[in-house]
Amino acid sequence: MDIKNARFVQSLQVYGPYEGVGLPEIAFAGRSNVGKSSMINSVVRRKMLAKVSGTPGKTRLLNIFRIDDAFHLVDLPGFGFARASKSEQARWSRMTEGYFASSGLLRHVLHLVDLRHDPTGDDQAMNGFLRQAGFPFTVIATKADKVSKPQRQRHVHAICRCLTVQPWEVIPFSAEDGTGREAVLSLFSQILEAGPG
Ligand code: GTP
Ligand code: MG
Repeated sequence: MDIKNARFVQSLQVYGPYEGVGLPEIAFAGRSNVGKSSMINSVVRRKMLAKVSGTPGKTRLLNIFRIDDAFHLVDLPGFGFARASKSEQARWSRMTEGYFASSGLLRHVLHLVDLRHDPTGDDQAMNGFLRQAGFPFTVIATKADKVSKPQRQRHVHAICRCLTVQPWEVIPFSAEDGTGREAVLSLFSQILEAGPG
C-alpha cells in the first residue's frame, strides 16, 4: 500500500457521526507518550498531522484522520497518564470505552507498547479487553531506534511473554528511522482486504 493523501477530519469527545463516517477504522491505542500520534505521522509521512508532545497526555480527544478516501485512522488518548486527575481519567474511560462499544466500523486495533519496557498493568488490561471483546489487534513495539538491533529480539520476547503473543506477530516500529513502516502498510492492506469480520 502506498499512502497518497492523509488529512485530519475531526476531534470527537464522544464517538458519533462525523464527516465521511462509514469507511473502515483502524485505531491506535496505548499508554500516554508511547508514540501513537508520532506513529500516525510517520506512517503517512506528514510530520505535523497529529499533534505530538514530550509531555504525556497530549491527545485528549478521539482524533480522526482520513487516508486516501479509503479508511480512517483513529488516534486515541493514551491511558495510564499518572498526573491526570480522577475526573480526567474518568473522562478518558468514557471516551475510549464508548468508542470501542459504539463504533461498528472498527476493523483493527494497533496496541502500542514501548519496545524498551515490559508492558504495564494497563497494557495487560488493554490486551485482555481486546481479546475478550474480540477485536483483532496487533502489538506494535515503538521507539525501536532506542535499542540496538541485536537487543531488540530480547525485548520483543519479554513483551510476547507478558501479552501472550508470538514474536512474529509483533511489529517493531520507529517513527524516527522508519523501522516497521512497510510492515504496517502491508498490515493495513490485509486489514482492508479482509473486509468486515
Ligand atoms: P499521548 O497523546 O499523550 O497519548 O501520547 P502519544 O502516544 O501520542 O505519544 P507522542 O506521539 O506524542 O510521542 C511522545 C514522545 O515520544 C514525543 O516526544 C515523541 O517525539 C517521542 N517518540 C514517539 N515515537 C518515537 C520513536 O519512534 N522514537 C523516538 N526516539 N521517540 C519517539
Ligand atoms: Mg497522542
